[in-house]
Amino acid sequence: MRGMTAQFPVARPRRLRRTAPLRRMVAGTRLHPAELILPLFVKEGIAEPNPVSSMPGVLQHTRDSLRKAAHEAAEAGVGGLILFGIPAHKDARGSAADDPDGIVQVALADLAAEVGDALVLIADTCLDEYTDHGHCGLLTASGEVDNDATLERYAAAAVAQARAGAQVIAPSGMMDGQVAAIRAALDGDGFAEIPILAYSAKFASGYYGPFREAAECAPQFGDRNAYQQDPAGPIRESLREVELDLAEGADAVMVKPALAYLDVLRQIRDLVDVPVAAYQVSGEYAMVEAAAANGWIDRERVIMESLIAIRRAGADLILTYWATEIARRLA
Ligand code: PBG
Repeated sequence: MRGMTAQFPVARPRRLRRTAPLRRMVAGTRLHPAELILPLFVKEGIAEPNPVSSMPGVLQHTRDSLRKAAHEAAEAGVGGLILFGIPAHKDARGSAADDPDGIVQVALADLAAEVGDALVLIADTCLDEYTDHGHCGLLTASGEVDNDATLERYAAAAVAQARAGAQVIAPSGMMDGQVAAIRAALDGDGFAEIPILAYSAKFASGYYGPFREAAECAPQFGDRNAYQQDPAGPIRESLREVELDLAEGADAVMVKPALAYLDVLRQIRDLVDVPVAAYQVSGEYAMVEAAAANGWIDRERVIMESLIAIRRAGADLILTYWATEIARRLA
């Protein structure tokens, strides 16, 4: 028989799987704490941190508990954190987004003073957490998101975040031209050195459900289908978004969600030379936690397997709510 000497197989892939040291030596896909980015939520006007019921283990932080969480992440060796704010007051234009006294700005200043040298402080730049209607931009009279009017708001928010101490700006609203608008505003305000991590391939996803509880940003009417990408859309649409963002000055790009879009991630990784991030979003987190709480899956094993899959598909950076836990486990 071919592939056999006498009755023995010539090739035995199992030889390299036999012991743990062998498997570790040939593994090839490795995670490092420095590649992990922890999303954190800070809420204005609360005395105690609020648990997010759909994301067991995740909190809406006070300014104090946020600092503690950031210190823990830094001590574990996590590479960076990305901050989302929930203001006490929302309005149609999302005024708190660029208010120097807005919750994200004051929290960024706290973090810059305490952990700014230990990990990278990333600000998510969008309007949905700040608008009373919950959309990612300003609305026209007929209730559509007004792309170009929104760009000015993003630019102002990004500058306010940079002034407060943000070290990377991450625009997540999927408006056309958002990277160019933010780049110009940062450069014009003396922040030419601040990189932009663009949410380039961001899909209109059911996996964001728990985040909308955590960030209190569910749209009050309609959905985000007219600005986020269609899950059934062609991959080349994501590649085009990436190319446009790079042409507009993005320094790194992101795919979001992660696990359901690993094919998109791989194609982007093969296309570009900049770092590619993947966001393991709230729904991905919640599904694992819920199944594990029921005893249906092995929590630690599935978390690690999902992160390895994202890494193997090509992510250089992974945003994950498990960042601190995983960093500790990797140590
Ligand atoms: C928008 C934003 C969202 C997430 C990150 N930035 C929500 C949305 O687009 O509706 C989702 C993150 C997650 O689900 O973990 N500012």
